[in-house]
Amino acid sequence: MKKRTGVVRRTTKARVVTPRRRNPVRTDAAAPPLVTRKEITVQVNGVAQTAEVEVRMTLVDFIRERLGLTGTHVGCEHGVCGACTILLDGAPVRSCLMFAVQAAGQEIMTVEALGTPDRLHPIQEAFRDHHGLQCGFCTPGFLMTTLAFLRERPSPTADEIRVALAGHLCRCTVYQGIVEAVSDAAARLRAGTPTPAPRARGGARE
Ligand code: FES
Ligand code: FES
Repeated sequence: MKKRTGVVRRTTKARVVTPRRRNPVRTDAAAPPLVTRKEITVQVNGVAQTAEVEVRMTLVDFIRERLGLTGTHVGCEHGVCGACTILLDGAPVRSCLMFAVQAAGQEIMTVEALGTPDRLHPIQEAFRDHHGLQCGFCTPGFLMTTLAFLRERPSPTADEIRVALAGHLCRCTVYQGIVEAVSDAAARLRAGTPTPAPRARGGARE
């Protein structure tokens, strides 16, 4: 019978690993004081608003709850639906993805500044005339993005409109009416339909 050869096991020298401290705990003396509130000033629909806010407050909560401008809606709170879109220094942004303190010193325009019930903005008129809304929940966001889009692209094609508004969701699915409304709004603005002067609305609440 063949003799089994033995397996030679190599013994490795045990390594002693000293765990590295990635986040060394600061002593109280080294920690900066925690800032939880901050005073900010923003221009909202042409009016300077100064308020002290919690640093964790989102911009949409500041607009709705502190300024009382509830035309800006909150849908997903994840930057997906576009319902909370406002213009920040002229550019459409999702106000659920920003902290109010990040908007300090900047200019905000909300849907309240667009037109009045008896004097609608041409974009609002076009949405009404083409059934570009049903329940209206998504509409303020669509209107604000459309305003910024038509300033940059006064004669868009239907495909360009679809791309520009692709980041907005409408649960009532009136997308075709919205595309037609934006196209018509562009024509009204090119024809020089007078646009109402932006309205100053809202005031900081204690
Ligand atoms: S609520 Fe801000 S994107 Fe939906
Ligand atoms: S009109 Fe209802 S969600 Fe768009």
